[in-house]
Amino acid sequence: MSREAKAAAVEAEQVRKVWGKTVAVDDVSFRAEPGEFLVLLGPSGCGKSTTLRMVAGLEEVDGGRVLIQGRDVSRLPPAERHISMVFQSYALFPHLNVAENIVFGLKVRKVPKAERDERLAQVAALVGLSEHLDRKPAQLSGGQRQRVALARAVVAEHPICLMDEPLSNLDAKLRNEMRQEIRALQQRLSMTVLYVTHDQTEAMSMADRVMLLNAGKVEQFGTPDSLYDIPETTFTASFIGSPPMNLLPLLPDGGGVRLPDGGRLELELPASAILGIRPEALKPAQPEAALLTTEVRAVEYLGADSVVAAKVGDDELAVRMPGRVSLRPGDRLDLACDPEDLHCFDAVSKRRRDDWRALLADAVAEIPSRGASDGRREGPAA
Ligand SMILES: Nc1ncnc2c1ncn2[C@@H]1O[C@H](COP(=O)(O)OP(=O)(O)OP(=O)(O)O)[C@@H](O)[C@H]1O
Ligand SMILES: [Mg+2]
Repeated sequence: MSREAKAAAVEAEQVRKVWGKTVAVDDVSFRAEPGEFLVLLGPSGCGKSTTLRMVAGLEEVDGGRVLIQGRDVSRLPPAERHISMVFQSYALFPHLNVAENIVFGLKVRKVPKAERDERLAQVAALVGLSEHLDRKPAQLSGGQRQRVALARAVVAEHPICLMDEPLSNLDAKLRNEMRQEIRALQQRLSMTVLYVTHDQTEAMSMADRVMLLNAGKVEQFGTPDSLYDIPETTFTASFIGSPPMNLLPLLPDGGGVRLPDGGRLELELPASAILGIRPEALKPAQPEAALLTTEVRAVEYLGADSVVAAKVGDDELAVRMPGRVSLRPGDRLDLACDPEDLHCFDAVSKRRRDDWRALLADAVAEIPSRGASDGRREGPAA
């Protein structure tokens, strides 16, 4: 591999992996552009690691192709794909010190000692390990071990790096720091990174684009903003965001639609319509301007904001409010929402319905005018 490794595109074309009766990866296609940070996100068992391992060549594809810079590498052994990998278990050699661990691969590839030393010095400085080169892995903290694993991947100077949950063994603070470090390193070296995680916060904060997987299939693929703003399915809506989007059935009642709290909107929507509202889109409102009337069940104070669990009909929804709130269980909480923050889905197909959403948003836009003319009443009972 030349030292001036250029960023490379990675593509999967309908890749497939079957274990007995389990279709672990079901015709997944994607393309990571050169220098892109692409996150593979999804719940446990959805096929993230298997997809990554097929790209690396650690698993054979049962169908489809893997391409690097447009070249089919599906039948090449891992070493000939010139890809680095960082795993959740750092897989360091316990009997080798930090320096030896980092350059192990270079030694195997018979890179001359002078060049090895130069690259080691550069990479160690880059990840902040210059002071610890003599230590054994057992003498390092979790974060330092993670840096050794990163350094080992980076020193190879491969244009593509695959990472499988590399931060899951670290505590929350360190994980945050390492996220930023990895992202900075990736941009500085313009590596193409495929990064696996089940943590949507990690995906949203690191990714150029996210591929959300569900049961071996691509559920949605796009920028973090697009997954957050325009979830195409209820699965995406309830996977992205913390707490995730509230999804409430809209109960049909004759020609109109009964809101979950008993209010009524005169519009024609089928029985399967689901209303989606993000916790941060719900705002306390005057009763006459409210979309929903709820009863507070619990309040979770998080510092910068609080998440209120509120009961509406048989459902519970989450409301994110700034700072500390004075609400108590049993309090009444009237809530409004800007019409543009509403989402609509079909409970049968589980897909987004923008046509229904438009009907609903128009009706909701009418609410604040109702009764508002006879002056302001007492504020919400909360
Ligand atoms: N070697 C294997 N033999 C049989 N089944 C396997 C094997 N590896 C994975 N699977 C199955 O394939 C599916 C996908 O597994 P995979 O490890 O890719 O999931 P994942 O998304 O990485 O999950 P996690 O977040 O838990 O790591 C699972 O149902 C898993 O049980
Ligand atoms: Mg996995």
